[in-house]
Amino acid sequence: MDQGLHTKVSHDVVDTKHYGAVTIPIYQNSLFAFENYESFELAMQDVLAANVYSRGNNPTVQYLESKIADLEAAEQARCFASGMAAIAGSLHALLRSGDHVICVNQAYGPTRQFLDELSERYRVEVTYVDGCLLADFEDALRPNTRLIYLESPTSGLFQLQDLEEVATLAKTAGVLTMIDSSWATPCFQRPLTWGIDLVLHSMTKYFSGHSDCLGGVVAGRAYLIDEIANKGYMLFGGVMTPHTASLMIRGLRTLPLRMERHQRNGLIVAEYMDKHPLVNRVNHPGLPSHPQHALARKQLDGYGSLFSFETQVSVALLKKWADALRYFRIGVSWGGFESLVTVGETPANRNLAGNNPSVARLYIGLEDPQTLIEDIEQAFRSVIKT
Ligand SMILES: Cc1ncc(COP(=O)(O)O)c(C=O)c1O
Repeated sequence: MDQGLHTKVSHDVVDTKHYGAVTIPIYQNSLFAFENYESFELAMQDVLAANVYSRGNNPTVQYLESKIADLEAAEQARCFASGMAAIAGSLHALLRSGDHVICVNQAYGPTRQFLDELSERYRVEVTYVDGCLLADFEDALRPNTRLIYLESPTSGLFQLQDLEEVATLAKTAGVLTMIDSSWATPCFQRPLTWGIDLVLHSMTKYFSGHSDCLGGVVAGRAYLIDEIANKGYMLFGGVMTPHTASLMIRGLRTLPLRMERHQRNGLIVAEYMDKHPLVNRVNHPGLPSHPQHALARKQLDGYGSLFSFETQVSVALLKKWADALRYFRIGVSWGGFESLVTVGETPANRNLAGNNPSVARLYIGLEDPQTLIEDIEQAFRSVIKT
């Protein structure tokens, strides 16, 4: 039976191991003991599959991984302690000295920083490209290119890459593809169905949804996830705790519901800002004014609620405007229930401003959008005296 998203997150196969408990228990244990030496030795032969030690497998975490693999149409998934642990662990596991990586230049700041570290210390070659055109990737390919790293949409200027085109190019060239899809979640984008090899998420964002825990995940073909598990997961040890997994499982139950609401709220506020006399441009792929709106409609089933806008208002005044907001809190991150604002560039978005430093990023939470619009207006009125 083909299940819809809401059914996938709500329904579980009835589990007789746990007395019929409707939620999986938190297996709060570091190791697993065995009834006899034979079964212990058998498990040790396949530590990637067996329950031996929780810096490998833990049933609560495994349950979450199987749910995410299902949502992403992946063979397997691995959850990490944070989004960066998933990104760094995966890159480190797959890249060798002398390999070449093509990465979009709008990728999350610390991801770029990690690639730069690999480049400096281990002679991994990195080329940053704009990524809006296929030619950007074609031109950057080298005989030693091992990986194309995407982030679509990016989380500063909300630029897209054509996943189908890039995946086809990469397959022809024998190159792996990996994407940070945190903004869209599996509710709105399933990169593996376009031919991308590995999909990553900062689960700290929408998966958790409540700004109360950190997590990350990588999903894809079993042989790649096993390689990452062997080299980037077990050895670095940045694993997700069972307690966090339980919070993430709770978040997952309402992910499609929350995403519907975030999408609606985000579009209402973005459309309002798009018509605002103080705003030059809104970077939101769901708006017809976005230069890649047609591509967004092709490969996204919906829109996250994080976007940025460029304005004539000076950065100094924009910061005062942010101070005057009553419902938007000032802070990095996004994906929780609460609306947030940042102004100008942050370490996460080093290239956000482009040629225009007067830019702000809004994250639209679960509040009533009209309240947020009124808040934006009262804050503008309080700092811009006419
Ligand atoms: C697009 C994106 N990817 C990855 C990360 C890293 O995730 P984490 O903070 O869970 O390590 C972030 C965090 O802000 C992000 O915005």
